[in-house]
Amino acid sequence: MTPRVHEEWARRVAAEYGSAAIAAQVLTWGIQAGLPPALLHTAARIVRDELDHAAIAHACLSDLGGADTPIHLAPEHLTVPQGSGLVADLTRAVVRNFCIGETLAVPYFAAMRKSCTHPEAAAALERILADEAVHRAFGWDALDALIDLDPAVAPFVSAALPELRATFAGYAAPPDAPPLSVEERACGLIDHADYAALFAQVWTEDIAVRFARRGIAA
Ligand SMILES: [Fe+2]
Ligand SMILES: [Fe+2]
Repeated sequence: MTPRVHEEWARRVAAEYGSAAIAAQVLTWGIQAGLPPALLHTAARIVRDELDHAAIAHACLSDLGGADTPIHLAPEHLTVPQGSGLVADLTRAVVRNFCIGETLAVPYFAAMRKSCTHPEAAAALERILADEAVHRAFGWDALDALIDLDPAVAPFVSAALPELRATFAGYAAPPDAPPLSVEERACGLIDHADYAALFAQVWTEDIAVRFARRGIAA
């Protein structure tokens, strides 16, 4: 298998493991902020899901012949920015990682699954895709609970959105990489152009619409 396939699945292992750390932080802050118990139980489930996703992605990496590929776990991917106060820190994490991150993850993983024929990769993508829809719903429900909790939340989100949007749009920027081969696509990879097109579409047709329903311009 090509190095790109191994690097991408190794990046997914790190991303899933980082998502577990972020979900655990959101759970702790959610408990401290007194979010509704049903949301806290879902957050606890998400921590387990993301640990599973990391293990599944690593099993897939090994199956694709990349067991020795290093997994880069940067400290900044395992921690959540804080220092603005409990509700503001929690709101930023919910919006960044769940409302935006998980709402993008669902169509990204669906696109990866579409041309994926490798059995282990396809099974991994299907499990992750099913869970990410639950994680997406958690994000918007948690945002609603935070808006109910504190009238400063909606204006805070409005002010934070341009910077948050830029971090995701930056990820989707196409680098100078040759297009993927059919074999690489069969292992569940999609081109950066696919990320960019999906980002623009999902932001306009889904994310901005959901924020607008809550009186937040995106
Ligand atoms: Fe995940
Ligand atoms: Fe997730």
